[in-house]
Amino acid sequence: MKTYLVTGGAGFIGTNYIHYMLAKYGEKIRIINVDKLTYAGNLENLKDAERLDNYEFVKADICDKEAVDKIFQTYDIDRVVHFAAESHVDRSIKDPEIFAKTNILGTLVLLITARKYWEVSDGEYKEGKKFLHVSTDEVYGSLENDTDFFYETTPYAPHSPYSASKASSDMLVQAYIDTYRFPANITNCSNNYGPYQFPEKLIPLVINNALNGKKLPVYGDGKNIRDWLFVEDHVKGLDAVQEKGRLYEKYNIGGHNEKQNIEIIKIILDTLLEMLPETDARRKNISEKLITYVEDRKGHDRRYAIAPDKIQRDIGWTPETHFEEGIKKTVQWYLENEDWMENVTSGAYQKYYEEMYSTGRR
Ligand code: NAD
Ligand code: DAU
Repeated sequence: MKTYLVTGGAGFIGTNYIHYMLAKYGEKIRIINVDKLTYAGNLENLKDAERLDNYEFVKADICDKEAVDKIFQTYDIDRVVHFAAESHVDRSIKDPEIFAKTNILGTLVLLITARKYWEVSDGEYKEGKKFLHVSTDEVYGSLENDTDFFYETTPYAPHSPYSASKASSDMLVQAYIDTYRFPANITNCSNNYGPYQFPEKLIPLVINNALNGKKLPVYGDGKNIRDWLFVEDHVKGLDAVQEKGRLYEKYNIGGHNEKQNIEIIKIILDTLLEMLPETDARRKNISEKLITYVEDRKGHDRRYAIAPDKIQRDIGWTPETHFEEGIKKTVQWYLENEDWMENVTSGAYQKYYEEMYSTGRR
């Protein structure tokens, strides 16, 4: 039985990863989920897993050396899958400090501790130990030219405090590989969408606002491009990298699904109208009239686009979910989980939303 330490498992991608891994491997694996439960972490996401003997939750901050040490002391960790991070670009523009702390220092604490427990002699590690660092395509900066793509060899050029902190964490992991022959992989993925995503991010924010007849804020001219990947395809890719990837390598994950933000918003409105029953009162709220152009994000990257050639060639991973299908599954999930949305958007979220989207918001 392999023991996985999943960091940030109560967040969006971590939750989807845990559900996928428990369904795929059952009792062949044990998962220890360590999460600080920030505003983005929600244990309700994992209430089914809580019943299982091979799943455990530990509330801790990855920056807390003693707490992380205790986890490695208590459990014989085979795999670390590191999601925990501050992940929202707009928040990083307002308050960069916590991004440096969690994303950089937190990653370093995990590296120091895993090496302490895993290294048997200089550059030699216990059999089968692996660290997967889950990162983002934002470390590569912004593409201006339509025919360019991010490759694993593309130089890092982050622009936001968020992406700078993620780039730093990637470099620390790479430094551990180069200096200590530390058994790690780094993955850099494009924009995810799907169930359990917190509604500060574009897709769930638009779904939620449209259903409630609230304005749909579009930054700048709405023509910034992101490369959208259904979250289940991402977590399958992460599992594939651990099982079939070459240790020490870096893999880009993305699906050649580039869309302008304004296109995404219109697709969501169409999908909502297609999926809501004729009798649903919320249909009357849903209209392109809600689209509202607002002040641009500071340092807003124009275009992201991943070249997933290496992961396809080396591992055989390709995205399985077409955007039309993925967005329907996503809308369906939010329609079926109104309570979840209600819970996460009450209290602190209201305050955040008012601050972020009131005039002169950034
Ligand atoms: P998220 O914000 O939804 O979840 C982050 C989780 O980390 C939360 O549960 C939070 O409570 C936890 N956390 C935050 N600080 C912590 C700390 N100090 N100690 C312990 N736990 C802490 O993020 P997400 O969208 O699920 O992203 C997960 C990872 O994937 C991040 O590292 C992010 O950079 C990366 N990523 C995200 C995307 C995307 O589109 N969402 C794409 C590529 C890569
Ligand atoms: O590319 C991967 C990254 O994708 C991850 O590393 C990040 O953790 C994740 O948050 C996401 O970052 P983005 O900044 O691309 O995602 P976000 O959903 O915040 O914004 C997507 C695009 O939509 C971006 O161009 C900004 C725009 N936007 C966003 C919001 C929240 C709007 O126009 N209006 C909005 O209200």
